[in-house]
Amino acid sequence: MNAIEVENLTKHFGKFCAVDHINFEVKSGEIFGFLGANGAGKSTTIRMLCGLLQSTTGTARVGGSDINTQPEKVKENIGYMSQKFSLYEDLTVDENINFYGKVYGLSDSTLGERKKWVLEMANLKGRERSITGTLSGGWKQRLALGCAVLHRPRIVFLDEPTSGVDPLMRRKFWELINELSADGVTVLVTTHFLEEAEYCNDIILINAGKIIAGGSPKELKEEHIKTPILEVQCSNVIEALALFEKQPWVVETSVFGISVHVTVSEERTARREIVRLLRERDIRLDHVERITPSLEDVFIYLLDQESKRAA
Ligand SMILES: Nc1ncnc2c1ncn2[C@@H]1O[C@H](COP(=O)(O)OP(=O)(O)OP(=O)(O)O)[C@@H](O)[C@H]1O
Ligand SMILES: [Mg+2]
Repeated sequence: MNAIEVENLTKHFGKFCAVDHINFEVKSGEIFGFLGANGAGKSTTIRMLCGLLQSTTGTARVGGSDINTQPEKVKENIGYMSQKFSLYEDLTVDENINFYGKVYGLSDSTLGERKKWVLEMANLKGRERSITGTLSGGWKQRLALGCAVLHRPRIVFLDEPTSGVDPLMRRKFWELINELSADGVTVLVTTHFLEEAEYCNDIILINAGKIIAGGSPKELKEEHIKTPILEVQCSNVIEALALFEKQPWVVETSVFGISVHVTVSEERTARREIVRLLRERDIRLDHVERITPSLEDVFIYLLDQESKRAA
């Protein structure tokens, strides 16, 4: 069964089309990644799916309810952590949880029980009286997640829940997302961290309001990256990059920190040529290795293809 079914969903703001006839399905209990550059249309889509924004055309069913004709029913089944901060900074941790409990109409006893759970999950026990604004980013995000799932929704929308959170806290945050999923909760999450997207069961990539790719991380890699990628580390990455870009056996290049990823048409020729070219220029070659493409490689490739198509 699908938790979310999206059909030709479209949103115009005046003449501008922010979301353009998108279609996708999210299976019950899965972690679904919604990726795309700034302004691609992710938050707008989420706001429509949460029943907060009417679509211009097209529709979706969330938890079996239609977002346009039954937005109130949709809201009963979902939790939503918005991209902009969803907590009251000047309230205490305890007061924020109480506030959300009231919004969701929880009885005092249920709220008490769920509050205990949230404080434990977010590791905020003992900080109930802290002013929310004084918590660091990572704790705030965990409290925000706790508040979004206080009423045990079956479907949760998380809009960039880990932006501004350090790597360790992000990992902890993803443990929480995995726990929710293990409990059968469907999670739709947006992120700009592509290593986080690797944890998703399925992913879609949206660009300028249109979906340009979808599938599991493994499928996306297999489908789009058929040519070998070599990782090259050397003493002058910038010069090497400029050199590689001119070669006929090079399909694509990109810099990843201190190394260059070179997509090549044929591995043996490429290896031989890399050694030769760098030696010619007196650039020290530290290592060259074939790598499994990352989602970052896939998305750079796909977005590059899109911009070439648009040009
Ligand atoms: N209420 C609005 N009125 C007019 N334009 C809007 C409105 N809301 C969003 N937009 C525009 O729609 C486009 C998509 O915005 P959206 O916030 O959905 O992108 P996003 O993918 O969430 O980006 P980000 O990664 O930066 O959060 C943007 O160009 C934005 O400026
Ligand atoms: Mg957004």
